[in-house]
Amino acid sequence: MGIDKLLDGVKTIAVVCNQWGDTGKGKFTDYLTADWADVIARGTGGNNAGHTVVVNGKEKVFHLLPTGIAHDSAGKITILGNGMVIDPLALVAEIDELNRECATYNNLMISKDAHAIMPWHIATDRAKYQSQSDGGIGSTGKGIGPCYEDKIGRRGITIGHLLNRDVLAEKIKRAKETHPEQQIDVEKVISDLTPAIERITPFVRDTVNEMHDFIRAGRHVLLEGAQGLLLSIEHGTDRYVTSSDCSLNGTASGVGISAKAIDLPLGIVKFPFMTRVGAGPFPTEFAGRDQEDYCAEGLKHDIFYEAKVYLGMPLDLAEVRGAQQKRNRTFLESLEREVKSYIAQHRDKIVDLFNNGSEFEQGVAIRLAAGEYGTTTGRPRRTGWTDAVAARYAVGINGPKLILTKVDALAGMREFNITCEYAIGEHVTSEFSRESGSLRQVQPVNITYNGYGEIRDIRDYDNLPRSLRRAISDFEHLTGGEVVIVSVGPDRDETIVR
Ligand code: IMP
Repeated sequence: MGIDKLLDGVKTIAVVCNQWGDTGKGKFTDYLTADWADVIARGTGGNNAGHTVVVNGKEKVFHLLPTGIAHDSAGKITILGNGMVIDPLALVAEIDELNRECATYNNLMISKDAHAIMPWHIATDRAKYQSQSDGGIGSTGKGIGPCYEDKIGRRGITIGHLLNRDVLAEKIKRAKETHPEQQIDVEKVISDLTPAIERITPFVRDTVNEMHDFIRAGRHVLLEGAQGLLLSIEHGTDRYVTSSDCSLNGTASGVGISAKAIDLPLGIVKFPFMTRVGAGPFPTEFAGRDQEDYCAEGLKHDIFYEAKVYLGMPLDLAEVRGAQQKRNRTFLESLEREVKSYIAQHRDKIVDLFNNGSEFEQGVAIRLAAGEYGTTTGRPRRTGWTDAVAARYAVGINGPKLILTKVDALAGMREFNITCEYAIGEHVTSEFSRESGSLRQVQPVNITYNGYGEIRDIRDYDNLPRSLRRAISDFEHLTGGEVVIVSVGPDRDETIVR
């Protein structure tokens, strides 16, 4: 089936992640934005997310603005929905980036009902939830959780509140009472935020009504999910989650529509490996606790460290750390490009690590091969086999249509696994539990398949290696999902539509 057939008669699409985020939604939202969508909307989370957007031919990492913003000059509308939490300063930094590239953002709409991340949210997040060594869940430190806490506590400050100075002052005074541990200086907060508030004011709208109008008018609407189902506050691995419901339902309600209004929900699954960032259970993780502890040390084991230690790339780590401390972005971005090109040229070293019998190093090799380092934090992502038990649970919530991504990354691995069940002592189950304690007890039961070589040139599903097709067919059977697209490389045309 070609893409036209898949999109036939479809007016509303949602692209959501069925794992712990970072599954490569960007490639598909980008493609659908450029060729199909009129309106692109985000409904959950804030600048804890991160994706690369190409603006006027240059790659930019955005955390709040959806990919749609790169197509503003073509009249495409970009919406930051009611369910989001927005740091006004971070948003203005992204708008400044567009200004630097002389890119337009005339069709940007910011929901008046989205909640504003205030300075004390960021301070609380960093103090309580960020550091894994201090028992935190490894949050991104952007203030997401504390902002949602205030929203649910009915004391939050919305984007609409920011626009009225008296209301804002009153709200901040109340925040001072509810957050006595924070030194909140009402006047200082207002004066620090005023320039940003003035910049975003022209874009603030009742986006829910706008969305309803777009849907009534039959416009092509694309909902861009954030994070992933297993990180959802509603469905994810309890406690080790983000604070929004990043499921299909949460994404829909985060823009003010029903999930029933979505004609084509697409759930993204990395295959046959998956990743997780931050703390929390991950049953299929390579080398279990060893990898979890190693990744918990964050930037100490970033891409520069791993390229030097595991691939032997000649790099001066002291120089890298100095640049990181000074936040020398230009130097670091250019060095990262060099590292990526080194990795591509030394595939043989990756393949050796894949196959040397060390599970830990297999995990490192996948991270290097697939570029699995946080876009927001640079932290190494934990790696493990694709978990069909978790995916079956995700299909139950986000629906059956699946996109498999990064399948090419494992080229050269002698064999690979898919986790089909969990064993708990003598007992075997295919039921996923969101209870982190139970999930830590399970042992993955795997099916092993022969590995495969380069697949990036393949465009016809039937030409994929037989063992890979068998694994995909088993995965569909195990999860109740239906794989509609297989991504075999980062470029847009490296895509197989079934
Ligand atoms: P928070 O969203 O910053 O509160 O972080 C809560 C948890 O979600 C942490 O484990 C983060 O690593 C994880 N997380 C948040 N955003 C992302 C994302 O975009 N990709 C992957 N993990 C994320």
